[in-house]
Amino acid sequence: MINDKKVLFSGMQATGNLTLGNYLGALKNWVTLSDEYECFYSVVDLHSITIRQDPAELRKRARNLLTLYIAAGLDPEKNCIYYQSHVSGHAELAWILNCFTYMGELNRMTQFKDKAAKHADNINAGLYTYPVLMAADILLFQADVVPVGKDQLQHLEITRDIAGRFNGIYGDVFTMPEPYIGKQGAKIMSLQDPARKMSKSDENPNGSIYLMDDPDTIMRKCKRAVTDSEASVRYRDEQPGVKNLIDIYCACTNKTPDEVEKEFDGKGYGDFKMAVGESVVSVLKPIQDRFEQLLKDKAYIDGVIKENGEKANYYALKTLRKVQKKVGFPERIR
Ligand code: TRP
Repeated sequence: MINDKKVLFSGMQATGNLTLGNYLGALKNWVTLSDEYECFYSVVDLHSITIRQDPAELRKRARNLLTLYIAAGLDPEKNCIYYQSHVSGHAELAWILNCFTYMGELNRMTQFKDKAAKHADNINAGLYTYPVLMAADILLFQADVVPVGKDQLQHLEITRDIAGRFNGIYGDVFTMPEPYIGKQGAKIMSLQDPARKMSKSDENPNGSIYLMDDPDTIMRKCKRAVTDSEASVRYRDEQPGVKNLIDIYCACTNKTPDEVEKEFDGKGYGDFKMAVGESVVSVLKPIQDRFEQLLKDKAYIDGVIKENGEKANYYALKTLRKVQKKVGFPERIR
């Protein structure tokens, strides 16, 4: 608990272009959670180098992502928005936790298997122990809840296993974190293949709407979205393309699928797709405008980076010092 609130931790990697799916599935929920919880939202750049990165590009993307957090509505006065690499406690705790994690556990991680297959020329030890670093992120802040997508649930499970093992040996050191799965709009699918998740790294650029797409591009992508030959706007599994568009429309307008079916009763896909496109533009355009504005305000963003980095470091050190003492590291002399 911090300031009588439960603690929430989450993070995103600054790799690839964020999509509408990332916004509706994650960022948008983060904003609504920031009243209820004491939130830490990190740009997890330590995780990013498990895949080879261009340094200048990584630096730029990291800053853009941090700026985007704010543009999307996270108030940096209320939420701790910071770079993982600015808080050395992440790496230090990860080392300690590495010594409490079994290779057998890491061998079971499906994301490692996927990434190793994809980057066969660079299966480095960091990629392998990625889940331990993620456990360190979460446990460092004694987080109670962690909003994650389904693909990260296995990593949250191993975090709980590690925390439980450590607590079993040393007493109650770590808070046991729970996953937080958003209620609605959690999963947006590709506009070109509704069986697949809308992805940052889709080869077909028409499948994904990127957060920085301009209004014309958004409208065009929506118009080209795959539907079916039923010619009716109905929310059912047999019409996955239409269902996905309804999900997007609902998330952008706060309507329910029922209301949307009624709204487009007797109307064709043309009208419907226009409305979906417009609803997406109305959500993304203000974020884009604010993003552009913030990018110009270097001093403000620098201030956020400095102050929130210090705040994160303060809480991180509290946990880290406790852990170091528990495992038997010598006391610091002041
Ligand atoms: N691995 C997460 C992802 O790729 C990002 C992440 C790193 C994270 N550390 C975290 C998410 C801690 C939640 C909590 O999506």
